[in-house]
Amino acid sequence: MIDDKISNAQLAEGEENVTSNYAPPEPYLRRSADACLYERDGGGRAWVDGMGAYSAANVGNRNLRAMGAGIAGLVRTTVLARSRRSPELALAGKEVERFFGQDLMLLPMNTGCEAIEGAAVLAKLAFNRHPRFEEKREQLESEGKTPRAIYCRENFHGRSLWAKSASAEPAYKEPFKPLTMEAEMGLVDYGDVSALEEEFKKGDVYAFVVEPIQGEGGIKVPPPEYFQNVKALCDQHNVLLVMDEVQTGFGRTGTPLAQQQFGVKADITSFGKSASAGLWPVSGALAKKEYGELLKPGEHGSTFGGAPASMALMRAAMRELEDRDACRLSKENGTWFRDELIAMCTELPDVVEVRGMGLMIGIELKGEAGVVCERLRKSPFTYRGKKMEGFWTNDAHSKVIRISPPLIVDRDLLRASLYSFAQALGHPNPEQYRAGDLERPYSPSELMNGVADETKYYGGRVRRFMEEVL
Ligand SMILES: Cc1ncc(COP(=O)(O)O)c(C=O)c1O
Repeated sequence: MIDDKISNAQLAEGEENVTSNYAPPEPYLRRSADACLYERDGGGRAWVDGMGAYSAANVGNRNLRAMGAGIAGLVRTTVLARSRRSPELALAGKEVERFFGQDLMLLPMNTGCEAIEGAAVLAKLAFNRHPRFEEKREQLESEGKTPRAIYCRENFHGRSLWAKSASAEPAYKEPFKPLTMEAEMGLVDYGDVSALEEEFKKGDVYAFVVEPIQGEGGIKVPPPEYFQNVKALCDQHNVLLVMDEVQTGFGRTGTPLAQQQFGVKADITSFGKSASAGLWPVSGALAKKEYGELLKPGEHGSTFGGAPASMALMRAAMRELEDRDACRLSKENGTWFRDELIAMCTELPDVVEVRGMGLMIGIELKGEAGVVCERLRKSPFTYRGKKMEGFWTNDAHSKVIRISPPLIVDRDLLRASLYSFAQALGHPNPEQYRAGDLERPYSPSELMNGVADETKYYGGRVRRFMEEVL
C-alpha cells in the first residue's frame, strides 16, 4: 500500500518537480469512495467530497460500474486509431441520441477544454459552409469584416489559448498575451439580452457561446426566461447557439443537459467531466446533424478521442446515471439542500445570496469565500457515529462557496454536514444543526473505513460490471 511504501516527506520532495499551477492544502488524499474523501487506506480522516472533482464525479468517486466498463473496454482493445473502425464508437453514437435527444452527431474528444474548442471548430465550419450563412458570409466579405463569436463576461471554457482569448478574467489571460484570436471575439454580460441584441445588430456575429449556468464564474443562474429570449434572438439574427455544458452536463443540474430545463436546444453543445463517470478524460461536442455532417475526414480530430474503452466508459456513465436515478436525486436533494442553506443564511449578514440548480449550488459572500471554505473543511460533524472532518470544497470566483458533491450523496450526509456550514459561516446557534446520531449504520460503500476485505468486496462488484461490456 502507498501508505507503507512512501512517506509524506518523500511525496513533498516529488512535488518540487511538479508545476505549482494548483495549490492544494495538506493532507495527501490517498483514497476516495462515493461522496467521501479519505486521508489513507482503511482508516484516518474522512471528509465529504463537496466538489465532486469539479463535477467529474457525478455518480460518485471510484464508481464501480465505470471501473468495470473501463477495464472491460481495455481488455478488448486499448487505444485504436480513429482511422480504424470501432464498434464501441458506433454504440456510443446510438446512445447519444437516446440519452441527449434526437438529431445529434457526436464529435468525441477527451478533456472539457477540447470539447468546447471542438464545438467552436464546428461552429466556425458551419458558418463557413452551411447555406444558412451564405448571405452573411458574402456581406462580411464584401465589407472586409471578420466574423465574430460572442462570449459572456465571467465565462470559463477551460485553459487552452482559445479559451484564454475568450475569457474576460485578467488572471487567466494577461500572462499569455498576445492572444491572437481576440479580434474574432466579443464579450457581453451574462443574462443581459439587450447587450446581446446590440452585438447581433452589428451584423458580424455568427455564434454565441454560453454556459447554461456559469460555474467557475460563481455558480450564476440566469433569469428563467433568459435562454428562451437568447434562442429567439439567435434565430432572428441568424446566429448559432453554442452551449458549454462541460460542467452542467451529465445530470449536475437535474437533467442530462441543463439546457433541457431552460427549454432550448443548442445548435452545438459541449460536454465532458462526468462523461466517464470520473475515470479518465472523456468529452465531446454534440452538433445538430446539419452542422455535424459538415466535418470531413482529416479536418479535426484527437488521438484518444473516441477510443473504444472511453466509449464503453461513456455508455456506462450514462447507464449509471439512469440506474442510480442521479438526475432525480440531484433535483430533489439539491432543492432540499439549497432551501436548508437559504433558511440558515437568512440571519447571516455576510451572506449575499444562496443560489443554484440541482446539486450545483453557490453561497455568495461579502468577503473572501476561500477563508470560509477552509473553515468548512475543518468543521467536524458526526455522521452515523463516524466523525467527519468537514465539508471539503473550494471557492468559485473568490466570493462564492461552491457546492457540487457527487449526485448520489446520501441526504443524511448532507443533513449532518449542515453543522459544518453553521460553524463555518458563523451562525449564532450552530448547535441547532447538530444532527442526532442516525440509527442506520453506514454501509461499506458509503464509508469505506471499516471494510474488512476491501479488495474482495470491490473486486467482485467490478467483475460483475465488466460482464456488461465483455
Ligand atoms: C464550462 C467549462 N468548460 C470547459 C471546462 C474545461 O474542462 P477541462 O478542465 O476538462 O479541460 C470547464 C472546467 O471546469 C468548465 O467548467
